[in-house]
Amino acid sequence: MPITNKENSSTKPHVIVLAFPFSSHPASLHTLVRKLAAAAPDVTFSFFSTAKSNGLIFGSEDNGLDNLKAYNVTDGVPPNYVFTGRPEAFIELFMKATLGNFKRAIDGVVEEKKITCVMSDTFLWFAGEMAEEMKVPWVPLWIAGQFSLSAHFYTDLIRRMIGTGPDATAGREDEPLNFIPGMSRFRIRDLQEGIVFGDVDSPFSNMLHRMGQMLPRAAAVAINSVEELNPTITDDLKKKFQNCLNVGPFSFMSALPSDPDVNGCLSWLDGQKAASVAYIGFGTVFSPPPQEQVALAEALETRGVPFLWSLKENLKGILPDGFLERTKGRGKVVSWAPQVQVLAHTAVGVFVTHCGWNSVLESVMGRVPMICRPIMADNRLNGRMVTEVWEIGVGMEGGVITIDGMMRGLDLILSEEKGKKMRGNIGALHELMGKAVGAQGSSSENFKILLESL
Ligand SMILES: *[C@@H]1O[C@H](CO)[C@@H](O)[C@H](O)[C@H]1NC(C)=O
Repeated sequence: MPITNKENSSTKPHVIVLAFPFSSHPASLHTLVRKLAAAAPDVTFSFFSTAKSNGLIFGSEDNGLDNLKAYNVTDGVPPNYVFTGRPEAFIELFMKATLGNFKRAIDGVVEEKKITCVMSDTFLWFAGEMAEEMKVPWVPLWIAGQFSLSAHFYTDLIRRMIGTGPDATAGREDEPLNFIPGMSRFRIRDLQEGIVFGDVDSPFSNMLHRMGQMLPRAAAVAINSVEELNPTITDDLKKKFQNCLNVGPFSFMSALPSDPDVNGCLSWLDGQKAASVAYIGFGTVFSPPPQEQVALAEALETRGVPFLWSLKENLKGILPDGFLERTKGRGKVVSWAPQVQVLAHTAVGVFVTHCGWNSVLESVMGRVPMICRPIMADNRLNGRMVTEVWEIGVGMEGGVITIDGMMRGLDLILSEEKGKKMRGNIGALHELMGKAVGAQGSSSENFKILLESL
């Protein structure tokens, strides 16, 4: 884009941003867009997401940037809708309402001919077609790791090599994905569901499949990761995409004010010994089955490990009878915790996590080893990276939490030599990520290229 003249508003760059309004997707996109908006005050950014997600991200406060504004799109939830208890239901309703909901909202805000770039969550591949129709660049953001993006990019190849469905994968779960550059440490079982196993024809799986096919058409693909973490995959995706730009990790860029500590987690941690507390948080949408959370509670109680547990109010009922009373003083259960600050607190010694990408990065940021209990999507790939490649955490045998497995994991990380080694490994990883976002670091340099591509 040429440098534009401020007086000539018709040529002033206007970037529309389309968010996928679930879990940590909109917050990650917002973090990047905020950074871009701060670096390019002459560019207008119009951020489109649902009212619910915009309310959470932008809140009531002024975001302090005149050139970044949020606009609401409809969420597709019919009036009088009765929630079935399936979190996926909201995603499906949203997907049915899309792309029309974005188009209507965009029409009300900016004339099509004034749009100079379309940014979006990578999931929303149709934003790429929209940009092509407008003859402007499409710049999607992948909010997770490079290896999980690579699995989506290579979905057609993976399906050709393995087939789809239970018959195709039975007995082959432990085969390595060594036919994809940089993926030989991952196994078939680590893949996201919907690629070869699980429902490969669901609207969601189809969306991700299309996404993988669309990426080479993007002017640039931004990724919330660091080139040096997966050099082979970086080289490969750089050949496949027009501009493959690792610009993360966002958790290392303190662009946003700290979350308020409404439940007193940090002051409670202040009273605990260094690296002694288990922090438990399985993310905002899905959680392991109740019997596994009971096993976790029993392991914590038996081992006498102090813990901070972020557990939604409606799930508190699954805890064993009398657990809260018996662990009073050494355990704290809250409905929400300021995770970044909690993990950065010196008292936290281990993180029991589903291995969402942001959680993993935040754990590295806080130099806290992990006990991994992947749930879905890219969780298994991330968990494999954590336990087998980076060696900064342990998994649960068979992928499920048992009392014995959890006690073993807690002992190993909190009191054994192996835990010390993991802390050393995580320190090295922390340094690598810190360098990438520092001056002249790879992520900082990629950010400059991204800025130019708008
Ligand atoms: C969008 O939704 C948020 C949260 O409900 C609300 O605060 C805001 O006023 C809405 N914005 C517009 C332009 O309607």
